[in-house]
Amino acid sequence: MDISVYFSVAGNYGRYVVTSGSFPPGINMDEGSGRITGQIDISANPTPAAPAISYPVTISYLSVKAPVSVSFTWDVVRVFRAAFAADTGDDNGAAMYMSNSMERFKPELVLIGGDNNYPLGEAATLDNGIDVYQRWFDREKLIACYGNHDLDNNLADPHVPQFDKFYYLPGNRRYYSWVEGNIEFFCITTGKDSASNEYEPDGNEVGSVQHQWFVAAAAASTAKFKVVFFHHGYAVASRSTGTSAMDRDDPRMNWFFEEHGIDLVLNGHNHATTQMDYTGPSGGTIPLINASSAVRPPLVIDPAGPFVDIGSVVLNYTYDVDGAGNPTGETRYWCSLETRGNDLTAKIVSSVDDTSPHQVLITKP
Ligand SMILES: [Fe+2]
Repeated sequence: MDISVYFSVAGNYGRYVVTSGSFPPGINMDEGSGRITGQIDISANPTPAAPAISYPVTISYLSVKAPVSVSFTWDVVRVFRAAFAADTGDDNGAAMYMSNSMERFKPELVLIGGDNNYPLGEAATLDNGIDVYQRWFDREKLIACYGNHDLDNNLADPHVPQFDKFYYLPGNRRYYSWVEGNIEFFCITTGKDSASNEYEPDGNEVGSVQHQWFVAAAAASTAKFKVVFFHHGYAVASRSTGTSAMDRDDPRMNWFFEEHGIDLVLNGHNHATTQMDYTGPSGGTIPLINASSAVRPPLVIDPAGPFVDIGSVVLNYTYDVDGAGNPTGETRYWCSLETRGNDLTAKIVSSVDDTSPHQVLITKP
């Protein structure tokens, strides 16, 4: 909660002091100007505080003999934090290193974007892939979508091990919406395995049952911010070139989210960390973040493939995750989400030192 309050006594110049009461920890007053500023960290108690908090404090202006009594009341600005990463299901030290970086950010909710269970999505390996997120799973604050590897167990039944593990997910658990803070998250699924076998019975193309569900759910949403996440992006910078050359890991997933009030799309699969702005046929623009936090051979899709109209894309940021910097020799990046009032800030975050080389700010009235 950020606070900035000014007060003054007309026509007087001097020094302000507190003569009774006190400000809460983190709040300070400048004696010369009377400006009161500070920040109260309520992240340890994510339950929204009362709409307003009042701290009665009496402040004297030294050149005025009678104290000036001031009672401060300010609105609580709800700060909500979430974290996203994909392709982390290999249970190595770098994944734990990354989840520790997430923990320092204190997200209330963590989203994992598929390929949560390498290599074949089997029950025997699932816990190993998830355990780096145990602290959120235990509170039922870890939500997940399917990646291709999660479906590689060749099960025609959509009840793959991940389905059973995430017993608390709503709806059919394959695609669903989840409201946390002032964001509604829409998890959707491409439903295909690494050999492109299709397992999603409700389809993933525009007009499919799954798509129709999304359109209705997005239209009904009253959340201030709306974020979509799924595994295979429809536009992502090619990891193989590190340039704006496009990989379209599943062009069917271009559901023209910018036309449905969606503020941000999060993907994985393509093993790089990128951010693009996509402008669709309607002229609307939406940021795409690919936060694939894994080091594996890149998947390069022929850019001359049969695509639907993807509009135009501007590459703002790309980073190949094959850098060095943590004990396993990998620099893993993840995506932080933070809302404050009218702002949603999405940052690419280094798990090495928690710094952010790139961010996207989305402001809603
Ligand atoms: Fe994948």
